[in-house]
Amino acid sequence: MDKLIITGGGPIHGGVRIAGAKNSALPILAGTLLASSRVTIKNVPHLHDITTTMGLLGRMGVELVLNEGMVIEVDPTTIQTYSAPYELVKTMRASILVLGPLVARYGEAEVSLPGGCAIGQRPVNLHLEGLQAMGAEINVENGYIRAKAKRLKGTRLVLDLVTVTGTENLMMAAALADGETIIENAAREPEVVDLANFINAMGGKISGAGTDTLVIEGVEKLNGCEYSVMPDRIETGTYLVAAAMTGGSIMVKDTDPTILDAVLLKLEEAGATIETGDDWISLDMKGKRPKAVNIHTAPYPAFPTDMQAQFAALNCVADGVSTIKETVFENRFMHIHEMQRLGADIQLEGNTAIIRGVERLTGAPVMATDLRASASLVIAGLVAEGDTTIERIYHIDRGYDCIEEKFSSLGATIVRVPE
Ligand code: EPU
Repeated sequence: MDKLIITGGGPIHGGVRIAGAKNSALPILAGTLLASSRVTIKNVPHLHDITTTMGLLGRMGVELVLNEGMVIEVDPTTIQTYSAPYELVKTMRASILVLGPLVARYGEAEVSLPGGCAIGQRPVNLHLEGLQAMGAEINVENGYIRAKAKRLKGTRLVLDLVTVTGTENLMMAAALADGETIIENAAREPEVVDLANFINAMGGKISGAGTDTLVIEGVEKLNGCEYSVMPDRIETGTYLVAAAMTGGSIMVKDTDPTILDAVLLKLEEAGATIETGDDWISLDMKGKRPKAVNIHTAPYPAFPTDMQAQFAALNCVADGVSTIKETVFENRFMHIHEMQRLGADIQLEGNTAIIRGVERLTGAPVMATDLRASASLVIAGLVAEGDTTIERIYHIDRGYDCIEEKFSSLGATIVRVPE
C-alpha cells in the first residue's frame, strides 16, 4: 500500500483548481440508471470512488465511455443485471445509491447491505422504509437487500432524521413513481440540489431542492441529457484550512463560495482574510497563527461533518482552547488519536474533543482511517516539524483528486512512496 511522506515546512502559497464534487458525482452516476437514453456527465472528479462506481455500473451491463477531461458517457439501456455485489459495496458505501433508481426503473434490485464503517454504524433503514412506503417489497437476507415493485407509488414521507444519501435514493425512486411524493425533513445539502437539477435536466419534476420539503411529481420516462457536476465544497474547504493553518495564502478556483458559508465564517473567526468572486475564494493569513475556533457539526447549512477533522487539525496548532462537537456520526474521531501522535494536546469526552493549541507539532508515522481523517493528517503534516508518514492512503485517493500534485504546486513537500 502506498504511503505519503510530508515534510513540514513554511506556509503554503498559490492557486489551486477544485474538481467536481465526489458526493454529487456518485449519486448522479447512479441516477443515470433512471434514464431511457444516453447521458453525458462532465466535470467528474478523478477519484477511486468514481472508478468503483463505473465498475459497478459496468458489471450490470451498462456501457460507459470515459472521454478526455473526465467526461463520462453512460448508456444505461444496455443493462442486464440489477445487482450491486458485496465486493463493491464493502469498498464504497455509496453503492447503496443504485437501489432507488433500479427499483424505480426496472422493478427490482439486489444490493449488498453495507456494513458499519470507520466513522459509525451508518444504517440504511430510512432508505428501505421510504421505498417500502412507496410500495416496494423488501427482504433483507444473506447480507443482501432485495427489492421489488411493479411501479412505485408516490406518497408522503417524513424522514426520522436528516440523511443525505437516504434523501437522494428516495428522490431518485420518486422521480419515476406513479404520482406525487413529498419528502419531509429532507437533506438540504448542495449535492442533493445538484442531483435534483440533474434529474430535472432529464425531464424530471422535482421542486423544493435545497429546502427540507421536496415535492416530486413522478414522470413516465426520463431522457438522457448532458450535465456538469458542481464543484467539491469539501475539497475547497480542505485547501482553505491548509492555507490558514500554515499561515499562508491561497486562491481557490473553479469553486462555489455560496455553498461554504459555515466554513468561511469559521475561517474568518480564525483570523483569515477572505474574498470571494463568482467561482473563486481567496484566503490570506498574512503569516499569522490561527485563533482556535469551536465547531459543532450538523446537517447543511450548519457546519459539515466532512470538514470536522480538518478544523481539528487547525485547532491543534491554533492560539487558544477549542471544542469540537461531532453530532452527525458517532465515531468520527479516529484522527484525534493520530494527531496526538504528532504532539497535539487533545482530550476526548464522548462526542466532544477539547483541543489546546500547541506551538508546534512533530512529524511521526500515522495511519489514515477514513477519507476526511486522512486529509486532516496531510494538512497536520504540513505544519509538523520533520517527516509525517501517512499509511493506508487509499482512503485519500477515494476522495481527493491529485492531492500530492496540488499540494506540491502550493509549495508543500509531499511525496508518494509506492509499496
Ligand atoms: N442514518 C440512519 N439511518 C439511515 C440513514 C442514515 O440512522 O437510514 C444516520 C447515519 O448513521 C448518520 C446520520 O444518519 O448518523 C447521517 O448520515 P447520512 O445518511 O446523511 O450520511 P450518508 O448519506 O451515508 C453522506 C456523505 C458523507 C457525509 C454525510 C453527512 C455521500 C456519498 N456521503 O453520507 O460523506 O459525511 O452524508 O454529510 O454523499 C465523505 O465524503 O467523506 C463522507 C463520509
